[in-house]
Amino acid sequence: MNDPSPRDLWSIPADVTYLHHGAFGPTPRVVQDVREAWSGRLAAEPMDFYVRRMEGELDAAKERLGAFVGMKPANFTFVDNATFAMNVVAATLPLEPGDEVLLTDHEYGAVQRTWRKRCEATGARITTARLPQPLGDSVGVVEAIFAAVTERTKLLVVSHVTSPTALVLPVAEICAEARRRGVPVAVDGPHAIAMQPLDVESLGCDFYCASLHKWLSAPLGSGFLWVSRRWQDGIVSPITSWGGSLAGRPPRWQDDFNWLGSRDPAAFLSVPAAIDFLAEQGVERFREHGHALAEYALERLTRAEAAPPLFGDDHELFGTLVGVPLPDADEEKPKGADQDPLQVALWEKHRIEVPIVHWGGQRFVRVSCHLYNTREDVDRLAGALGELL
Ligand SMILES: Cc1ncc(COP(=O)(O)O)c(C=O)c1O
Repeated sequence: MNDPSPRDLWSIPADVTYLHHGAFGPTPRVVQDVREAWSGRLAAEPMDFYVRRMEGELDAAKERLGAFVGMKPANFTFVDNATFAMNVVAATLPLEPGDEVLLTDHEYGAVQRTWRKRCEATGARITTARLPQPLGDSVGVVEAIFAAVTERTKLLVVSHVTSPTALVLPVAEICAEARRRGVPVAVDGPHAIAMQPLDVESLGCDFYCASLHKWLSAPLGSGFLWVSRRWQDGIVSPITSWGGSLAGRPPRWQDDFNWLGSRDPAAFLSVPAAIDFLAEQGVERFREHGHALAEYALERLTRAEAAPPLFGDDHELFGTLVGVPLPDADEEKPKGADQDPLQVALWEKHRIEVPIVHWGGQRFVRVSCHLYNTREDVDRLAGALGELL
């Protein structure tokens, strides 16, 4: 019998071309099954589950995740997603009028809004570091960021892999320079998990925020916040519940996050199943397949009349996600949560899920390439774009 196609390992509807894994990763069938089994155990005997089992099970799941991305269990907690994690960082960071929080010009919209709100509430302000275009080597990126640092900079917020532009930033070099200058760093890392080799402990950041539904394909609603030792005592949860341990264990800084009121931790407890799934498929095989397909997408979708890509000709600056510039860059940016009409047409006419991103006065098609994606998916997108543009 032939091996099943990787796509059969997911339950993506047959008529859908899903090139949007970077935004919301569909969950593989085996991981869905494990999640449902955990929810079933909770539903059957909530008292036993919450009070006697949950903390031990969470610890076991944390061991696995910690081994996968280089984190000591004492230094991180599960949270719902990267958005939640960044909100904890914002609640924790002491800010005074005149203080500055430095973001790059490639940061995620919700992250910008989180810091805008926090700055408005405290009288601090956001400053922005413009990264080179094309991005170029780590020296230029580090220089561009630290040219925007002042003595009022209280935190640098930087993506490991940028959302609108899909660039892999040199976070290790950025964190090393930040340490040298005494600037704390919060890394926004949801796209890096599984896509990039990662050892969080050795990165030298202060906070690392991530979602696990993206490239790891863990359930939606699973993420983590890693916090360096120096911040752990002062960490502030934006949600207040009982605090402390349900099982009567000694207090830990993570207690506030383990119990946010009664809720279903099945997504967290299924993270080991996602790690097993990817290990069985081969993490390296996933990275190679995804990157090769992203290169194929670049070749098929690039148009002579479009601007050059933001990574120049350095293909190491993207992973399994690639932003291909589109022509007619001055197409008006959709307002608020509205999608670009091209994105709507790709879905409505062709059942293709792919984001059309506006950034820096340019328009990009941002293509995600996971194990279930094929050259035929990219060809279908190329054909549809040829028809619609
Ligand atoms: C760089 C970056 N940060 C944060 C987020 C937010 O992730 P989530 O919606 O899982 O919290 C995303 C989502 O696309 C992202 O790309």
